[in-house]
Amino acid sequence: MLHCNFHDLQERCFQENILAATTTSEGRERPDSPAAFSAGRAFWRLIRDSIRHYGVMRTLREVVSAIYRLLRDRLPDRRRTRYGDLDFDFERNVDTTRANVRFRTQLMAALTGHEYFATDPWLFQQIVRALPIQFEDFTFIDLGSGKGRSLMLASDYPFRRIVGVEYLPELHRVAELNIERYSGESQKCGRIESVCQDARDFEFPAEPTVLYLFNPFPEPVFALVLEKLKESLEKRPRPFYVAYRYPEYAHLVGGCEWLEKIAGTEQWLLYSYRENRNPEHKGFESVSRH
Ligand SMILES: C[S@@+](CC[C@H](N)C(=O)[O-])C[C@H]1O[C@@H](n2cnc3c(N)ncnc32)[C@H](O)[C@@H]1O
Repeated sequence: MLHCNFHDLQERCFQENILAATTTSEGRERPDSPAAFSAGRAFWRLIRDSIRHYGVMRTLREVVSAIYRLLRDRLPDRRRTRYGDLDFDFERNVDTTRANVRFRTQLMAALTGHEYFATDPWLFQQIVRALPIQFEDFTFIDLGSGKGRSLMLASDYPFRRIVGVEYLPELHRVAELNIERYSGESQKCGRIESVCQDARDFEFPAEPTVLYLFNPFPEPVFALVLEKLKESLEKRPRPFYVAYRYPEYAHLVGGCEWLEKIAGTEQWLLYSYRENRNPEHKGFESVSRH
């Protein structure tokens, strides 16, 4: 009975969150809500990148398997996986679970990128503790930040600032609400923002950075983002780390000779920009102690 009430309560909160995330105070649809987001454009962009990367046949197979994965996840026996991460939200009065993401949004995510899943807090902490850095000097960036759970987890460390990049407006808006609500004694960084943008268009700031990636994109998009990162680092070498959770495309990151693996398990990998070892390098002056 208690269990039932808890879920009813959560469900009501979820509906309110979705409403707040997608409508204005006058009840109109927000201009940046999923209705204004062009799923068609995002879909064709992925198809174009995917054909370039894989060719036509493999692209078709990838689309079919994305739909299959999404539908399989709707089966009743998967319910536990969907609701299994409610503790974080319940304890902090936020909404980061995947359980209440609308089917339409998950379908868009599956067809244009990757589905939304929130980071496991204990794994996140494991990764961050492996970073050999002074947090105060580093900006934390999550590409594909969803509802912003990793941003909140990162704010428990004294990062200089924290940036999340999420291209689905509905998830981005929920992240903004979460950021507003989240506070606690453990929080050590208050400069947090969520940006609603495709990661392929994101310009990396020329700052020492920890880049967090939790299985955000399909392989073709991942390859483009890495290419863009490489150009950015060549132009402005700076201390840089890449934390890769659920390393499905480890071969892509492993193939970047400018990154060096420094730690990891089966569930995550941590890479350091090779120039991190070169303290004399131009661009590292501001973080001389590394
Ligand atoms: C597995 S979730 C990770 C969520 C979050 N990083 C976390 O750790 O809790 C992947 C997210 O990447 C987003 N995404 C997929 N493709 C993207 C793109 N091209 N640009 C920005 N975000 C993207 C999806 O909408 C989804 O929210």
